[in-house]
Amino acid sequence: MNILITGTSSGLGFGFAKYYLENGNTVFGISRKINEGLDSNENFHFLSQDVTDFERLPQNIFSFLQEVKQLDLVILNAGMLSEIKDLKETQLNEIQKVMDVNVWANKLLIDALTDAVKEIKQIVAISSGASVSGSRGWNAYSLSKATLNMLINLYAKEFPDIHFCALAPGLIDTKMQDYIYGLPENEKFPTMKRLKSAKGTEQMPTPENAAGNISKKIERLKNYESGLFLDVRKM
Ligand SMILES: NC(=O)c1ccc[n+]([C@@H]2O[C@H](COP(=O)([O-])OP(=O)(O)OC[C@H]3O[C@@H](n4cnc5c(N)ncnc54)[C@H](OP(=O)(O)O)[C@@H]3O)[C@@H](O)[C@H]2O)c1
Repeated sequence: MNILITGTSSGLGFGFAKYYLENGNTVFGISRKINEGLDSNENFHFLSQDVTDFERLPQNIFSFLQEVKQLDLVILNAGMLSEIKDLKETQLNEIQKVMDVNVWANKLLIDALTDAVKEIKQIVAISSGASVSGSRGWNAYSLSKATLNMLINLYAKEFPDIHFCALAPGLIDTKMQDYIYGLPENEKFPTMKRLKSAKGTEQMPTPENAAGNISKKIERLKNYESGLFLDVRKM
């Protein structure tokens, strides 16, 4: 398969790239930094790109994929967490920054990919349980992932030949969780306590283990209606 994955330099995106390469696929990776562990694989093609560079993103995607006629799977995985704090303490420019990475970059990527590549079979946007849980403190991140769910739902109507899903991947032990783990306890934000206690347990697998499990769920997504938000823990 030809698979495009954003956010391959670390965490879940790295886990996905490693897993799909080990299983004989060709992977097109996009992030700002390269992951040295992937670079040596001849089936790994890399574009160093800030996905919020909206001016250059479409043309760079076009050049990167000019030989590619078909993508079997696109995983829109690149994302960022917002600072854990109350929404009232959060400035609009902080929210905009998170929306740019988690939502608007994915809108431009879907537009550019559907222009550049003749056939795309499946697009999975990595969402989060935070898109529906309304956990106090998850302010801009929750807003961005909820908007991402609807973005995917709307695109599913416009592209009936592509199967779309916004998929919550469950907890994964990545840099994002390191940030939460490093925060001081705060009673105001009960989800923080739950995540801290999940770290190092089987509830929060390594990116490599999570990617293997999630890829099996991705194979089954086409049994569901296109455009839904699904959570791997409930499939
Ligand atoms: N970890 C969890 O428990 C968890 C739970 C639910 C959902 N998720 C979701 O899973 C996805 C992956 O997160 P992770 O936990 O693996 O986090 P991570 O280790 O921080 O990885 C984030 C990835 O996104 C890329 N990225 C961020 N900003 C970018 C930008 N402006 N341009 C290009 N690439 C950018 C980073 O690459 P560069 O810095 O090299 O650009 C990196 O490869 C995210 O969408 C996240 O919301 C994670």
